[in-house]
Amino acid sequence: MSHPPLIVAIDGPSGVGKSTAARRLAQRLSVPFLDTGAMYRAVGLKVLESGVDPLDREDVIAIASEADVRLGRREDGSFEVLLDGEPVEPRIRTPEVGEAASAIAAYPEVRQRMVLLQRDAAEHFGAVLEGRDIGTRVFPGTPYKFFLDARSDVRFKRRYEELTAAGRAVTFDEVVGEISRRDLRDSTRTDSPLTRDPSYTFIDSSDLTIDQVVEQMAEEIGRRG
Ligand code: DC
Repeated sequence: MSHPPLIVAIDGPSGVGKSTAARRLAQRLSVPFLDTGAMYRAVGLKVLESGVDPLDREDVIAIASEADVRLGRREDGSFEVLLDGEPVEPRIRTPEVGEAASAIAAYPEVRQRMVLLQRDAAEHFGAVLEGRDIGTRVFPGTPYKFFLDARSDVRFKRRYEELTAAGRAVTFDEVVGEISRRDLRDSTRTDSPLTRDPSYTFIDSSDLTIDQVVEQMAEEIGRRG
């Protein structure tokens, strides 16, 4: 009898370390890693490059419906987001693109397309997916759901260090502003807001290393078999 593909959902706010933890967990479980935020960032980048205001709903929906966003595979097996056939990293890793992504992700028309792509990719191969709505909307039926959170001061610091290490010229105050605005928007929008319910295993990573977070998740998955 063949097993259904393993789907692990990791949701949580910005700057909590979801991507790093999800990538490592995926390697450990030998399934692909999918950063769903990178898909919304790709659409946000396309909108900005087109000179459209991310808050201009009609124009954004028109651009998003035609944007060529696809998922390829990297050598390590993880999914790679392609925009017009080209990898979007590292162009999407700026605060501007992050804010644009958060704004355009509030439109249901944009989300529908991304969710279909996410399901299609993960159902074939299994995946560790991280984002905001994986356990509530994309794969609500998976038994493996983790909500990763951390104190806001820790998240601001982590994101600031990540950006400056990548050579981005940002101030700490800018990072605080960006993350706060995004978290508010991402958790209060009408369609698929960031939220958690009792079906999630909650992990506060404020005082944990990435390895400890990954260990906790792997143990929980092992327990649930
Ligand atoms: O994970 P991230 O910070 O790269 O995501 C960028 C934005 O994309 C985030 O502010 C909200 C949106 N997003 C979403 O609405 N749903 C997801 N599953 C992932 C990201």
